[in-house]
Amino acid sequence: MEHPHIPLDQLRAEVAECRRCPLCDGRTQTVFGTGDPNARVLIVGEAPGKNEDLQGEPFVGAAGKYLSELLAIAGLTREEVFIANVLKCRPPSNRDPRPEEIQACTPFLREQTRTINPEFIVTLGNFSTKFILKTDVGITRLHGTLQQAGRFKVFPIFHPAAALYDGKKREALENDFATLGELLGTRPASN
Ligand code: URA
Repeated sequence: MEHPHIPLDQLRAEVAECRRCPLCDGRTQTVFGTGDPNARVLIVGEAPGKNEDLQGEPFVGAAGKYLSELLAIAGLTREEVFIANVLKCRPPSNRDPRPEEIQACTPFLREQTRTINPEFIVTLGNFSTKFILKTDVGITRLHGTLQQAGRFKVFPIFHPAAALYDGKKREALENDFATLGELLGTRPASN
């Protein structure tokens, strides 16, 4: 039998107390995630950066501003999706997440996913795509293709930070968000 879903507020409190890996020593605060607890779409990034660590919210820096623009292409707002990360604490100097950190932290993401129970999971970049799809296939091959993980539809997209200064990736990212809007039926007719 499936175990009962843990309420998001309870999960948030558990994350705030977490000392499962050494990243807890360098954090200002944990970054649990924000948005609609009943969202149709769960967006999963990589890890908090400097601004996110300071503000306690995901995607509030330059990549976050771009993410808001991308969501608008799909006909979505930040308030109607739920945005979370693979890691809840900032890695020093924004280095890549380490396997042992992902292993320690992802039970939280798993529980968030079960509780929110979205229709779509949008994975941004390699780390979230590899974790959610349990695959070694990279984002360059998977982006913009509809996948399935258990009962969830999964739509991998490049990470917005990787595309900020790369015109080709920006184009792919914007096309993929337009496709997401079509899949959801939320895309504005004018885009
Ligand atoms: N990049 C991420 O992957 N997540 C954030 O919250 C901010 C930047």
